Amino acid sequence: MKYNFDELVERRGTNCVKWDESPSADVIPLWVADMDFRVAPAIQRALQQRVEHGVFGYNIVPESYYEAVISWFHRRHQWEIQRHWILYTTAVVPAMSCVIKALTMPGEKVLILSPAYNCFFSSIKNNGCEVLESPLKPIGDTFEVDFIDFEAKCADEKTTLFLLCNPHNPSGRVWTREELQRMYDICQKHGVKVVSDEIHCELIMPGHKFVPFGTITDDCVVMNSPSKNFNTAGLQIANIICKHPGWRRRIDRAININEVCDVNPFGIVALQAAYNESEDWLDELNQYLWGNYQVLCDFIDKNLPQWKVCRLEGTYLPWVDVSAMGIPVDTLCQRLLQEAKVWVNPGTMYGPQTGQGYVRFNIATQRSRLIEALHRIKACLFP
Ligand SMILES: Cc1ncc(COP(=O)(O)O)c(C=O)c1O
Repeated sequence: MKYNFDELVERRGTNCVKWDESPSADVIPLWVADMDFRVAPAIQRALQQRVEHGVFGYNIVPESYYEAVISWFHRRHQWEIQRHWILYTTAVVPAMSCVIKALTMPGEKVLILSPAYNCFFSSIKNNGCEVLESPLKPIGDTFEVDFIDFEAKCADEKTTLFLLCNPHNPSGRVWTREELQRMYDICQKHGVKVVSDEIHCELIMPGHKFVPFGTITDDCVVMNSPSKNFNTAGLQIANIICKHPGWRRRIDRAININEVCDVNPFGIVALQAAYNESEDWLDELNQYLWGNYQVLCDFIDKNLPQWKVCRLEGTYLPWVDVSAMGIPVDTLCQRLLQEAKVWVNPGTMYGPQTGQGYVRFNIATQRSRLIEALHRIKACLFP
């Protein structure tokens, strides 16, 4: 390995949500979705250079930024994006809010596959729309779309938009081309627009392949950012990619109405260093995450036999079935936080019904920390 993901980086005392919001200093936080690793050296160097300049006024987004985005998706995913399809904004959640505002009317229904990333619920409601959940079907150690239910919900005359998460947080699914095609065919048949949140798209485990929705059809909106993949979420930059000129104009307008059209100098620099110079770091990161996932699975298999780890195809957020314990997951997670000093998220954050019985881990931490957290959980539940 060229990069040392085992290096223990101290994040306490850096205004870090994940570590500094802990109720006590001895908690191992495996919750909010950022990573405990330093960024790729090229990103850190580019940021250092920018800091050296010492002037941080308003910014333009240069042509080289767009070239970096276009080249990345061409090289890595054979997706041909044109320069004028790209709209930048401050992050993916603001992007999502603008897209929903632009493409729906208040009172309409937005379909999601549930469980779902918690901001899907809030963003839909904040824009005056109704959340319509199509629950994923548990099949063995993974999940599938219930296409009968999905089609019935698309056929609801109030459903105008489908908000997809690809790869899917929190189930860990990386949707196949066939699945995506089927989702699109159904949406198209019922006049439902597809908006795909692809923020986790580079976090792909062996044997799986990320398929950008933009390679299924031009008739969609994709939201993306290097933030999850390269651990730059605090730098606040994201892109909305939309070929449809009418939708794009409305989204651009919503970005202005929501006042999220100004980005900061560090995001612009970090995105280019990530996409242009950090591919090898990303590939090693994925190997390391896969190693952590193996550790999690082995440990749970041997020591927590009531728990079942769902298959992780993408993201660093394994979804663990703890339903056999027969305890509400909010109670279980509170106990783990207070007694084991391990912070994991209850599945109910991602769907009060569909997330019950599940816990979401964040394994993007140093392996020694993950192992320590697992030992603490075992000692707490099976002393
Ligand atoms: C699916 C998904 N979309 C968006 C976000 C947040 O994106 P941002 O920080 O760019 O707003 C997350 C964070 O966990 C996520 O999982």
